[in-house]
Amino acid sequence: MKDLVLQLEQNHFLTDEEFKLLLEDESDEVLSFLNERAAYVSKKTYGNKVYIRGLIEFTNYCRNDCYYCGIRRSNCNAERYRLTDEQILDCCETGYKLGFRTFVLQGGEDGFFSDEKIVGIIKKIKEIYPDCAVTLSIGERTHDSYKAFFAAGADRYLLRHETADSEHYRQLHPGNLSLENRMQCLYDLKKIGYQVGCGFMVGSPYQTTESIIKDLKFVKELKPHMVGIGPFIPHSSTPFKDYKQGGLKLTLRLLSIIRLMLPNVLLPATTALGTIDSEGREKGILAGANVVMPNLSPKNVRKKYLLYDNKICTGDEAAECILCMKRRMQSMGYEVVVSRGDYKEINGE
Ligand code: SAM
Ligand code: FES
Repeated sequence: MKDLVLQLEQNHFLTDEEFKLLLEDESDEVLSFLNERAAYVSKKTYGNKVYIRGLIEFTNYCRNDCYYCGIRRSNCNAERYRLTDEQILDCCETGYKLGFRTFVLQGGEDGFFSDEKIVGIIKKIKEIYPDCAVTLSIGERTHDSYKAFFAAGADRYLLRHETADSEHYRQLHPGNLSLENRMQCLYDLKKIGYQVGCGFMVGSPYQTTESIIKDLKFVKELKPHMVGIGPFIPHSSTPFKDYKQGGLKLTLRLLSIIRLMLPNVLLPATTALGTIDSEGREKGILAGANVVMPNLSPKNVRKKYLLYDNKICTGDEAAECILCMKRRMQSMGYEVVVSRGDYKEINGE
């Protein structure tokens, strides 16, 4: 099995059969080896630096009804909120002082935030903080909308594809959403010039090894700049409330596989990973991740942006979160840096 790991490191890909073997292997020894190789590859490009992104969860209104998601339209228990432009800018100000140089604006698909409003927010942030990157994570919009946001100064876009298996996609989403459109959005975003992030949940209901292999093939084909993966965690007010959460080991295995497939990709150790294991994010970095995304949202709305149960850091101030993160990273010999943390191209890729 270790041969397969080395082969993946060298060729950046495996056959379906080989991926299946590696994904279904259960030995801790192989997992440690995979994690070590991935951390080594990550260090070759990014050294011991961990990039931080300040996450601003600016609306939890959403017109979609994804079966897994705690802020889905049908969840009447969710207390809805929207941040004002001033509140968003306050988050950026706090974040900038704390050393953040990337702001990630994330939210449900909220019709209140028209293209004009989003363009206005991007322009304001870029005017005050020209040295910062703005990342959007606001779901599926038209090609023209994406172009307008890019022209206004948005640098990056996160849109997890969720699963690259169309039948699995239908099991996770209502019929009005399609994998085809989701993928088209990702290709459009890339063509427009964004640094693009796709990704998926690990251990989502009905996920199989075969569907994960499709995810890996899609990731390889899209060649995104970022890949966001984290465990699925059930939310008590969703149709998937009784499903099992995704596993730590499979998530770490996949982080490492993705690092070996795309050596210079930006790979977050996600909040969901930190939620299923108190040292999940540290373990993620040691498995090849190189990004963490502390929360910059105002403290009074944190508990309302609950995508899943028991989400961590919902009671902390931004300053506490970043201090805690710096300490956690230092304890493993890594360093949180003040930088935009852009994708590093190597040999034109
Ligand atoms: N609306 C935007 C979109 O669709 O991309 C961004 C917000 S959405 C809540 C961000 C991500 O949260 C989703 O892409 C999904 O992978 C993740 N997510 C939602 N519910 C989750 C759950 N129960 N467990 C883990 N991750 C979840
Ligand atoms: Fe829209 Fe989750 S259903 S953000």
